[in-house]
Amino acid sequence: MATEDILVQVDGRPVAVAEGASVIAALVLADSLCTRRSVGGEARFAFCGMGYCQECRVSIDGRPHRLACQSACRPGMVIVTGAGSGT
Ligand code: FES
Repeated sequence: MATEDILVQVDGRPVAVAEGASVIAALVLADSLCTRRSVGGEARFAFCGMGYCQECRVSIDGRPHRLACQSACRPGMVIVTGAGSGT
């Protein structure tokens, strides 16, 4: 079954992604390989892809600390990463 592409925003930029794809997929398509910043300010990104490592936390629709690997893209979703806000 084919899926339709939808638009989401990654740090204010529109990105076309298949509806239901993970937020991590949208970040990769946007070349945004920083989900959050460590306490020391280092860029972090998804590691396990299974909901354990917590490295993929981003803000989704204004809600902080959402796991990008466990979240599905929906039309109009607004994603803010550590590259955009220091999440
Ligand atoms: S990539 Fe590890 S919790 Fe999401």
